[in-house]
Amino acid sequence: LVAFFVPKVLANRRVLITAGPTFEAMDPVRGITNLSSGKMGFSIARAAREAGADVTLVAGPVHLPTPRGVRRVDVQSAQEMLAAVEQHAQSASVFIATAAVADWRPATSSSQKIKKDGSGQPPVLGFVENPDILATVARSPHALTGDLFCVGFAAESHDLLAHATAKRARKGVPLLVGNIGPATFGQDDNALLLVDAQGHRELPRASKRTLAHQLVAEIARRLPEQ
Ligand code: CTP
Ligand code: CA
Repeated sequence: LVAFFVPKVLANRRVLITAGPTFEAMDPVRGITNLSSGKMGFSIARAAREAGADVTLVAGPVHLPTPRGVRRVDVQSAQEMLAAVEQHAQSASVFIATAAVADWRPATSSSQKIKKDGSGQPPVLGFVENPDILATVARSPHALTGDLFCVGFAAESHDLLAHATAKRARKGVPLLVGNIGPATFGQDDNALLLVDAQGHRELPRASKRTLAHQLVAEIARRLPEQ
């Protein structure tokens, strides 16, 4: 598929995408994170760019090259990801949340490396919940007026349709995309379940690149006329 032949269904649209995991530090050398290669989000960023969009990609720590023509903002934590997203959401017309955001972060982060104290007792970690980036953006005035189309992702281990349907309502987004198992972390192909107000449909197993183009087309035809 050569970029030249991709229909420019997102011409003159600004698209904001989150991708990869977040990393939540407990001290300068440790933290907790999620499994996510970032491949799906990066593929979507590339496909959106090839479809003519102006694309900003807010990426957690991943080992992937930036797709050509895409503006990339690197972040570590969920809080940093939210701040970067809020900076760019206002001027976007599509927001696609593919990031595997850590649901919790350590309640305190030490500025110095935590040392073993010799007692044999591990430190007790408290956690606090991270902000829900997608739900925050989906409930912003810009989205509620219909000017920002929000898309969520869900990776579930079971009952995908039921969970995706519930998640779509809970997040307040028009389109929720489920990863059809088995776990797709780091893989180059995937299958997707699209859930919207009308019902659901499947994008059968294909490369993440092909699926990204199909998803971009699905999003484009749901956007209000310019
Ligand atoms: N998401 C987000 N910010 C969070 C958590 C999730 O933006 N703090 C986004 C993800 O990028 C994804 C969607 O919300 O698009 C669903 O994420 P998921 O982890 O499946 O949902 P949660 O609401 O966190 O519920 P749970 O993990 O308990 O299933
Ligand atoms: Ca989660």
